Amino acid sequence: METSDKSGIANADLTARHAHVIGWGKAVPETAMSNDDLSAFVDTSDDWIYARTGIKQRFIANEGESTATLAYLAAQQALEVADILPTDLDLIVVATSTAENIFPSTASLVQDWLNAHEAGAFDLSAACSGFVYAMNMAADSIRAGSIDSALVIGAETMSRILDWQDRSTCILFGDGAGAVVLQANETPGGVLSGVLRSDGAGGDLLAIPSVGSIDANQSRAGANGYKLYKMYMAGGEVFKFATRVVSESVEQACKLAGIKVEDINLVIPHQANLRILQAAARKLGIDSDKFMSNVERYGNTSAASIPIALCEAIEERRIQNKDHIALVGFGGGLTWASMVIRWGIPKPSEQQGSLLNRQRRHVQYRIAKWRSRSRRWRRRVNSRVRDLQS
Ligand code: UT7
Repeated sequence: METSDKSGIANADLTARHAHVIGWGKAVPETAMSNDDLSAFVDTSDDWIYARTGIKQRFIANEGESTATLAYLAAQQALEVADILPTDLDLIVVATSTAENIFPSTASLVQDWLNAHEAGAFDLSAACSGFVYAMNMAADSIRAGSIDSALVIGAETMSRILDWQDRSTCILFGDGAGAVVLQANETPGGVLSGVLRSDGAGGDLLAIPSVGSIDANQSRAGANGYKLYKMYMAGGEVFKFATRVVSESVEQACKLAGIKVEDINLVIPHQANLRILQAAARKLGIDSDKFMSNVERYGNTSAASIPIALCEAIEERRIQNKDHIALVGFGGGLTWASMVIRWGIPKPSEQQGSLLNRQRRHVQYRIAKWRSRSRRWRRRVNSRVRDLQS
């Protein structure tokens, strides 16, 4: 039996309960923006962006789309694959840096829209590492026996916090969401290890100052030059940090899981920049084919990038039963996090939901809409009655 130590959170085979990924889904906005579209209003070019980042296009939310609507669509797909009902969920966590509100959380909105009325819900802030943090937290809760199933979502509308005057950042990011369902099972495997890290001393390298900021009561940019609610990034410094921590933390997560780096079948890294992924693959001594990359089509979707890439890896049949998968995120905080998963149940290619459950889920989504509206109306009517009585 492994024990926890200071180098990470060892959690393989502690109990007979294992946290398995049983569902997955992703959603992106309707509108794609190519590098050429972008260069119509930003001083940049397709050649520069593609050569420096590997990005060709990203998706940008329209007026009717938001972090919560994308999270909801990804969640519905994940429930469909898992073939469970929203009411089976015990926990919903949304990793995001572009939450719908400070509160209510994006997770609470998704909980309401799904009619997942047995679930707790909260947002988690760890920037681009957020999805791995959230997965680790949910897997630990499952293994500890406090919950049986969790919906873990990474969702972002980065386009809303970009400074479109800053060509060094606005060309990088895009919007989207990805979700997985984690569930307790006695079959050994699932999430084997998690390594979470932070270095707050690097917080000024990548930031979005918000309402609690020391500069929040000033209309001008902060003393450090940051604009409120807009992303700032020292790209070169973050690049160096990222190439260092990806290899280090994947190695740590493998050690904790009791496997060798060469046992990894696929690394699913945060999709920030193709050059970072290539450098990390070289450092790890892994063939770059074993590094999943879809940054070309989505850009950097922050906390959503790992679950979106996971879904695509499954769609492309790059994950088989019993494969070892490493997830690795890095970003603002600074934060970074790695995780090893032994893919267990079900075989991705064999997953099929039942028609009856599909219908029950759709009924629950309809009930959710009705329930929310009727509760709001009842509150309004009651308050009007009280006003009339006083
Ligand atoms: O998800 C969070 C984690 N984020 C990351 O991991 C991002 C890490 N950083 C990066 O990916 C890279 O640092 C960037 C892609 C942001 C920048 O690439 P770079 O190779 O470090 O370029 P640079 O900042 O050193 O800029 C090189 C040149 C500069 O011109 P001069 O000074 O050499 O004349 C920039 O002004 O490229 C210029 N430049 C641009 N040119 C055309 C910067 N942005 C652009 C642009 N289009 N969009």
